[in-house]
Amino acid sequence: MRGIRHIGYRSNVEAIAELVDNSIQAYAQRVDLVSGFADAGQATRPVQLAIIDDGHGMGPGMLRLAMMWGGTHRENDRSGLGRFGYGLPCATVSMGRCFTIYSKVRGGKVHAVCLDLDLLDAGVYLAEGARLSIPPARPAALPAFVSEAIARMHPNGWRSGTVVVIDKLDRLHWATASGLRRNLIRQFGIAYHKLLAATAIHIDGEPVQPIDPLFLSPDCALSSLDEDRAQPLEPVTLKIGLEGGATGELVLRYAWLPPTFGAADKSRDAIGLNANARFPILKQYHGIVFSRNGRVVDVQSRTPWTTFINNDRYIRVEVEFSASLDEAFGVTTSKQQVSVSQEVWEQLQAAGLPKAIEHLRSKVRAAKAERQRAIGTGAAPIAAGTDRGDGHPDQPAPSRPTARGARESQSSAADARLGGVDPGTALDALLSRIDRRRSAGNGAIANEYDRLMRGWANQLSRISGTKPATT
Ligand SMILES: Nc1ncnc2c1ncn2[C@@H]1O[C@H](COP(=O)(O)OP(=O)(O)OP(=O)(O)O)[C@@H](O)[C@H]1O
Ligand SMILES: [Mg+2]
Repeated sequence: MRGIRHIGYRSNVEAIAELVDNSIQAYAQRVDLVSGFADAGQATRPVQLAIIDDGHGMGPGMLRLAMMWGGTHRENDRSGLGRFGYGLPCATVSMGRCFTIYSKVRGGKVHAVCLDLDLLDAGVYLAEGARLSIPPARPAALPAFVSEAIARMHPNGWRSGTVVVIDKLDRLHWATASGLRRNLIRQFGIAYHKLLAATAIHIDGEPVQPIDPLFLSPDCALSSLDEDRAQPLEPVTLKIGLEGGATGELVLRYAWLPPTFGAADKSRDAIGLNANARFPILKQYHGIVFSRNGRVVDVQSRTPWTTFINNDRYIRVEVEFSASLDEAFGVTTSKQQVSVSQEVWEQLQAAGLPKAIEHLRSKVRAAKAERQRAIGTGAAPIAAGTDRGDGHPDQPAPSRPTARGARESQSSAADARLGGVDPGTALDALLSRIDRRRSAGNGAIANEYDRLMRGWANQLSRISGTKPATT
């Protein structure tokens, strides 16, 4: 059991997603994650987490089975999100040493089962003959913080549903409830963007807003954040049959983004404080987004024929696949990654994925060139560096008019250091390095780099005589 605790969710977010998956499959209309605090709510670090839904609930017999590894009523089902019978127990023990499942079916009473790993360790669950036995479900009262939350969230009554409470939280990756909340809201916004219309998710009262990683869906807030819009290519739907006999459906969605899509001030690059709310998503979901039965499970930047470079953040690709193809996509029990088989890559190739990626790249290149031309013909000199925040260009940037004559006098010394590389390309490489350092660094390092970039932006503004956009 101690080993299972470390079986490896990427973070608490993926573990909590297992519980949300279960609620969605129980036809919940609303799922809440609620933090419980010690010290009458004075502390910032939660001591308990509860995932509360208003789905169909479970009877006492099913409740006990749900707690067990392998206990499921949908073994190998391919129509929904769950199929293994491992999600609930694995996810809960990955965060804490004790979990309790409370559930109520329509017209029934709340029953609960609890598994405490400390008691397990102490031999409390050993029944006769030294066999391990999970205690049966018993009628139970909900903990106070849960019943208070239910009263707030379901003022017309909570007729049925399930609550999973995790205690003894010794493996929380975020030190505060607000850190966990921020991450859950962003990542669930993407993971469940196609499913949120049927099941609303709230994290400590705050609703999760859908975020389409392709920024195409008009219902998703960030798609219409400003005047820049994602440009779609025609989606492709195909039925595939694989050698082992599996068949299923794939949907390929495509979009490309204007070069200013991640920038707040459109005359400047998406660097530092000028990066808008879309930019972290461009960065984090960079590559092919894989979605399984409507839920985003992974993003991969390498394919057998091409690797996504930084500039490819502006091309967006999603492969939606049905769970009947799980084996070919290498989906494992934790459903947080794919490992695409050669056969599927070949099918994707045959369906035109490499061509579509090249087409999107050419659209992005053309849009960048167009922007450079527009800037070159008289826009703010600071933006003459073009879209630099995003790293290596596909090809060396064309030389541009210098902002001030002073730069010319410095250029010979700089040229020697650049070893003949175009200064624009060299600057791109440097910015890309700084950006990587910043993303990889802890809070203090990230702040330090933010300060550096802000100072640099101000300095450039002073030189060019434009108003600094980073305030
Ligand atoms: N919120 C819930 N509401 C109703 N039933 C639930 C809920 N959560 C779990 N269950 C029941 O408990 C069983 C076990 O859940 P668990 O997540 O461990 O496995 P699964 O969802 O069947 O498969 P997977 O391991 O792929 O998630 C489910 O099959 C379902 O019957
Ligand atoms: Mg499950």
